Amino acid sequence: MPGTYTSIVVDPVSPNVGAMISGVDLADITDVQFAEIRQAFINHGVVFFRDQVLTEEEHIRFAQRWGEIDVNRFFHPVDGYPQIAEVRKEPEQKANIGSKWHTDHSYDQVPAMGSVLYARIVPPTGGDTIFASTCAAYEDLDDDLKARLSTMTAQHTNRIVFGQLDDLDAETKADLGDRLSNAHLAVDDAFHPVVIRHPLSGRPSLFMNGEFTVSIDGMSDDESASLIEQLDDHIHQDQYTYRFSWEPGSMAIWDNRATHHKAINDYEGQRRLMHRITVKGEPLTSA
Ligand code: OGA
Ligand code: MN
Repeated sequence: MPGTYTSIVVDPVSPNVGAMISGVDLADITDVQFAEIRQAFINHGVVFFRDQVLTEEEHIRFAQRWGEIDVNRFFHPVDGYPQIAEVRKEPEQKANIGSKWHTDHSYDQVPAMGSVLYARIVPPTGGDTIFASTCAAYEDLDDDLKARLSTMTAQHTNRIVFGQLDDLDAETKADLGDRLSNAHLAVDDAFHPVVIRHPLSGRPSLFMNGEFTVSIDGMSDDESASLIEQLDDHIHQDQYTYRFSWEPGSMAIWDNRATHHKAINDYEGQRRLMHRITVKGEPLTSA
């Protein structure tokens, strides 16, 4: 559902998720341009920009237009800018951050709205990010499943991904240890409805992900693992996804309540450096 835009150009990049926005310099935008970008974000779940030239201060100022900054406690910050998380992979490092389908911060009581991710160094080839629409995927479920999901609540945790950082084998720890830390802050699981009413669009959305969602209330471990896998497989089908190829100066802003994302790790021996600012969200309610 494209909106009416006056000063920016919004081109959907796939039927169900994502739009490319042009005609705007994010270091210097008007309130009207921001309102239009925000509407495109609500309509498409993730918006992309090319060829942006931003200092750290300008990145922060732009992110603050969306809401208060949500500082991620596990990511290494950019030197001198605690608000900016560094998403880095050096040529000698093997693991990348975000390689499994997930949505950020679902383990928080009030999950973050989304992230404002800016590409500073990208490999010559590879290093794409795939996004999937959890709203479009929900719409296509059959009515029986929708009815069953409507009363379900799921438990989300950061204990598995971040809480075990201290217990990794030496090689993985050496590889990831300078990028993710603070395992002791992985506490405090959260419970959220499996189907939420999206706080901005009002659309129902599947709010679970195989990375952080550990169980569904009232189900055995096997049942809940298999339902989470079934829903994940459904969401990640081609028709709900879009794969974005980064260039230096590209920006993506995604909505954690409307999308999943996954970073492709296919650039061994190359450096990739992204700056991520995460913005706070609002409490979630069931659809
Ligand atoms: C993230 C993330 C994806 C990427 O920053 O949350 O998953 O492509 N990044 O770097
Ligand atoms: Mn992520």
